[in-house]
Amino acid sequence: MGNAAVTARIDPQTLAQAPLHPQLHVGSLHEQKKRILFVSSEFADLIKVGGLGDVSAALPRALMERHDVRLLIPGYPQVINGGHPIRVVGEVAGMAALPPCKIGRMDLPDGLIVYVLLNPELYERDGTPYGDPHGRDWADNHIRFARLGLAAAEIASGTACIRWCPELVHANDWPSAMAPAYMAWRKVGTPTVLTIHNLAYQGLCDLQCNAELGIPAQACDSEGMEFYGKLSFLKAGIVYADHVTTVSRTYAQEITTPSFGCGLDGMLQAKVLAGQLSGIINGIDESWDPRNDSHLIQGFAANQWQGKRTNAEYVERLFGLEADGPLFAVVSRLVQQKGIDLTLGVAEEIVARGGRLAVIGRGEPELEAAMAELGRRHPGRIGVHVGFNETDARRMFAGSDFLLMPSRFEPCGLSQMYAQRFASLPIARRTGGLADTIEDGVTGFLFDEPTVESYLEAIQRAFSVYAHEKLLNAMRCRAMAAPPSWRQLVEPYDRLYQQLLGATRAVAADPL
Ligand code: ADP
Ligand code: GLC
Repeated sequence: MGNAAVTARIDPQTLAQAPLHPQLHVGSLHEQKKRILFVSSEFADLIKVGGLGDVSAALPRALMERHDVRLLIPGYPQVINGGHPIRVVGEVAGMAALPPCKIGRMDLPDGLIVYVLLNPELYERDGTPYGDPHGRDWADNHIRFARLGLAAAEIASGTACIRWCPELVHANDWPSAMAPAYMAWRKVGTPTVLTIHNLAYQGLCDLQCNAELGIPAQACDSEGMEFYGKLSFLKAGIVYADHVTTVSRTYAQEITTPSFGCGLDGMLQAKVLAGQLSGIINGIDESWDPRNDSHLIQGFAANQWQGKRTNAEYVERLFGLEADGPLFAVVSRLVQQKGIDLTLGVAEEIVARGGRLAVIGRGEPELEAAMAELGRRHPGRIGVHVGFNETDARRMFAGSDFLLMPSRFEPCGLSQMYAQRFASLPIARRTGGLADTIEDGVTGFLFDEPTVESYLEAIQRAFSVYAHEKLLNAMRCRAMAAPPSWRQLVEPYDRLYQQLLGATRAVAADPL
C-alpha cells in the first residue's frame, strides 16, 4: 500500500517537531458567528454507546456561544421517540443504493438545533446505532452510514432544501467520515474537519460495494479509500477532510506509529507534516458536578466526604458488597481496548488485600461472561452488572474510591475524568488521553506496561494511599479540580475553524 512508502520517507525527528495542535493565527477569533454542521452517529441526550455520544452533546453546545452550530444525526427510534417534536424541513434524493430521506428538525430547549435524517427502513430498528439487540452489526451499515455522510454533503451543497447551509462541516469517527469524501467528489468547497475518536473502528466494507455507495472508481485505490482490499470509511475521511483532529495530544502522536496506527500510521504521519493533524483533548460538561448532580443519592463538595460515603452505601447495596475496605469500580464498555482481561487478572489480588470491586458495563460476550463469573466466585467482595445505566454509573463514580481503567489504548477517555470530578482516583495505563489527564500520584495512578505486574504495582500504591487518610483526601481534592470543562476547551476548535474558514476565503479571493 501507499502507506508504507510514506512511512519510509519521514524522518522521526521531523515528525517529532511537527505541531500536533492548531496554532495558526487568523486575526480576531470572534469576528462573526459561523455556520457549522456537526455530524455524528450518537448524541448522549437521546442515544449513546460511549464517549462519542457525550462529546457530540457537549462540544456543539460549548461552541454555540461562538457559532451557529447544528447537529445532524440519524433518526433512530430513541431519537424519534425522545420526547422532542420533529418537523420535516427538507429532503435528500436517492443515489445508487442510498435511498431518499426526509430531513427533520428538532429544536431543543437550550436552543440547540438538531437535524434528523429520517428513513424508517434504515434507522428505526431495535438495538444500538450499530447493531441488533444481540450485539451483531447490521449487515447494511455501509449503506446506513454512507447515507449519513451523503446527507451532510447535500446539506452543505444546499440541495437538502433546509434553508440553512453550513460554512464548515465537522464529521466524527467512521460513521460520518464519508461526508468529506462525498463533498470532495461533488466539488462542494466547504471546509471539512474529521475528528477521530477511535482509530480502531474503521467502517470497512467490500470493495465491490463501491457501486452501491456511488463511489467513483478512481477513489477505490490506495490513494483513495481502499484499505487492504476493502473500502474504509475512516480512511476516506482522513484522505478527503481538510483537517483531522483526534481527542488527545498523546493519542495524536501514538497513531502515527505502527503500534497504534491500525495500518493508517503512514498516512497520518503525512498529515502531521502537512499541518493537518491535531490533538485536542476532550473536556467534561457541567452536569458532572458532585455538588448538585441529581443522579446522586447525596451531593458533596471537596472535603464533605459523608456525601461520598452515602453514594458508596448505595453501591454496596446494589452489588451486595460488604462494607469494609477500599471500593474499586469499573464503569466501561467491556471490550479488549479497555484492558478488561487485565482487570480480570488483578481482581482476586484486590480481594486478597481487602478491597472490593463493583463492575458495570456491557460489550464483548466472552468478557461479559468472564466478568459475571468472577462476580459469582466472590459474593460480597465483587459485584458485576452486565448492562448499563447512567444513574448507577454516576453513583459508582461518586461512591468508589478508585476507578480501574487499564486501557490498552485510549484516544481520550472520559470516565477517568468523571471519576476524578467525583473524587474517585483513576488507576490507569499511561497511554493516550489517560496519560494527558492523570498526574501520577497526584490526581490518580498511572502504570506503563499492559501487564498484570505493572498494573498491580499501581494498585499497591493505591492501597497505600488509602491507608493514609490525609493523603487520600488531598489526592481526592486535587483530582476533583483536575478535569477541564468544555468551556475551557472550545478555543482550539474555534481557532481551527477560523483557520480553515480563513483559508477558504483566501482561495475565493484568488481563484488561482
Ligand atoms: P469509550 O467512549 O471508549 O467507551 P469514554 O471513557 O470516552 O470511553 O466514555 C465512556 C462513556 O460511556 C461514559 O459516559 C460512560 O459512563 C459510558 N459508558 C460506559 N460503558 C457503557 C456502556 N456499556 N453503554 C453505554 N455507555 C457506557
Ligand atoms: C472514543 C474513545 C474514547 C474517547 C471517546 C470520546 O470512544 O474510545 O477514548 O474519550 O471516543 O472522544
